[in-house]
Amino acid sequence: MMNIGVLISGGGTNLQALIDAQKSGMLKSGKITDVVSNRSGAYGLVRARTAGIRTAVITKKECGSSEEFDKRICEYMKEHKIDLIIMAGFLAIVGKNLLSEFKDKIINVHPSLIPSFCGDGFYGLKVHEAALEYGVKVTGATVHFVNEVTDGGKIILQKAVYIQENDTPETLQKRVMQEAEWVILPQAAELFCSGKLSRKGERTT
Ligand code: GAR
Repeated sequence: MMNIGVLISGGGTNLQALIDAQKSGMLKSGKITDVVSNRSGAYGLVRARTAGIRTAVITKKECGSSEEFDKRICEYMKEHKIDLIIMAGFLAIVGKNLLSEFKDKIINVHPSLIPSFCGDGFYGLKVHEAALEYGVKVTGATVHFVNEVTDGGKIILQKAVYIQENDTPETLQKRVMQEAEWVILPQAAELFCSGKLSRKGERTT
């Protein structure tokens, strides 16, 4: 059984999807042992505590620098023997320490079909605003490994969502979450924890 540490910044609906998947037995090869937020007011912390999961708050401000912030998160994950780190709406950049200590052991959910609408500056509602502005007819969500390039790591799972004519960034965000993110994030976690992911060149299968 793998230990899962989840990094969050906000509402934590993706964290809730993971908690629910664990409860239903869909996520069975890993256990969410820790939830770490970089914002003390993140509602996801309440969700974690309600589910009996240990929580911690590590903010960049209290750490004083990005380097120290990265180090503290890394130390926390090592201390608690985390095998898989899931970024579930974690809106801070992870640094060198964490990336090297947890190489190929960090995954992220992004609310678009990468390589569209991703990279620096594309997070949360901004992603959906950009998709609507561009006029794409299909968007979706991606779960990918995390490396030093923002949203640039290898893709694990993707799911498409059709855009509707009357969509606003808010309605689109909600549908992408419900139809895609909350589905593929627990699936990817279970695939990782059960050892079913393998790398073939550029592809993760
Ligand atoms: C989610 O839509 C997630 O994909 C996005 O932030 C939201 C967090 O919601 N993440 C990014 O944009 C990362 N680039 P949640 O806190 O309710 O899970």
